[in-house]
Amino acid sequence: MLWGGRFKEKLNDTAMEFSSSLSFDINLINEDIQVSTAHAEMLATIGILSKDELSEMVAGLETIKNESSAGKWNPDTLEYEDIHSAIESRLGELIGATAGKLHTGRSRNDQVATGFRLWTKKAITSLSEQLSIFQEALLLLSEKHTETIMPGYTHLQRAQPISFAFHLLAYVEMLERDKKRLQFVLDETDSSPLGCGALAGSTLPLDRNITTEKLGFSKPSSNALDAISDRDFVLDFLNACNIGMMHISRLSEELILWSTTEFNFIKLGDTYTTGSSLMPQKKNPDMAELSRGKTGRVYGNYTAIATMMKGLPLSYNRDMQEDKEPIFDSYKSYSQALAMMTGMINTLSVNENRFIKELEGDFLFATELAEWLVIKGVPFRESHHIVGEVVKAAEENDVKLHQLTIEQLKNINSIFDETALEVFKADGALYRKKTYGSPNPDMVRTEIKKWKTKIN
Ligand code: ARG
Repeated sequence: MLWGGRFKEKLNDTAMEFSSSLSFDINLINEDIQVSTAHAEMLATIGILSKDELSEMVAGLETIKNESSAGKWNPDTLEYEDIHSAIESRLGELIGATAGKLHTGRSRNDQVATGFRLWTKKAITSLSEQLSIFQEALLLLSEKHTETIMPGYTHLQRAQPISFAFHLLAYVEMLERDKKRLQFVLDETDSSPLGCGALAGSTLPLDRNITTEKLGFSKPSSNALDAISDRDFVLDFLNACNIGMMHISRLSEELILWSTTEFNFIKLGDTYTTGSSLMPQKKNPDMAELSRGKTGRVYGNYTAIATMMKGLPLSYNRDMQEDKEPIFDSYKSYSQALAMMTGMINTLSVNENRFIKELEGDFLFATELAEWLVIKGVPFRESHHIVGEVVKAAEENDVKLHQLTIEQLKNINSIFDETALEVFKADGALYRKKTYGSPNPDMVRTEIKKWKTKIN
């Protein structure tokens, strides 16, 4: 028991069950031990712990860590309020009265804020690594499909021809922004609240620079009241998860669409699809659907914390204990979804020739015909109108654009000549793109090269 001097009775059992965070903050065990070890070493440096006391304490903490990872120490959630009190109590069992010196100049408020920041920093590093691995998978697949033509869409209506590689590279861009966002969160998380005490520091000469350095933070936080109250880094982290999951959800949706019989553009690998218990023919994209679906709970986690923090007076309030489950859940969902996406990209096969025939003379070359007229000196608004008539004529005759004769085109406008028919050809369509950032295969290959050097 960490407190109790002023109490006559112990906490009601149901109240204990209601308030204990041990069942989930057990996740922070390694970080908590790291924080305690750094704190003890600092206490020894400033003469509050003797050398012997320090080595006893550090050895005890190490034992708890090992016991826990070996599954030999499983503290009871009905006995302890949280991981911090459970560890301190176990330390007492292991090393006796010296354990009582560990909490000198420290509160669980700065302790939890510090451990939680350490956990978040690790989570950020591991997500960033996963994002890079996912990018590499996309690049590997892109390399094979710089000339694989497909329709690009707006409003989910055929718009202009693009390549499969170009489409995948759009996701590589999105993932890069996700990494940048995480880097920002890392910077925001990278200050140590240890030594801030309950809210206002200590009368003991604690050296915060020592613990800051030992724990690998770049600086100590500079206002104790803010450091204890602050959970902005949690919200920033959750928001990075939100946007990352939104990107994953969009790719999931596309993988699902592309793998339908109607679209028939990709086949997902067996190892990332499931069958139906009733319909023998089915191959379902469950991993993509679940990744899309989990985006909902990740958004919910952000909303939970934003709402919980709103209106809290400074500094610590027990409400803030609610910050942990949502972040653990968002991290897990995001990390798992990233693994699923990478796996699906690595194992899918592409029906390369799917669109070649079908796009021949497709209406998605209408913009290109309008641009052909612009080169001939027709103002774009006028050429847009002329091509509208061409599309109407093709529709009325129930033919595709390339099946219109030059006479039919000339009937609409005398400016047309044979070379106009060239723009209806699917073959070479991608190479006709001239602008930087377009699906021109030469440019896409340059981009892939750029990304590969950047990511390695
Ligand atoms: N379990 C608490 C939390 O996660 C630890 C801090 C408790 N502080 C306190 N003064 N009761 O927020």
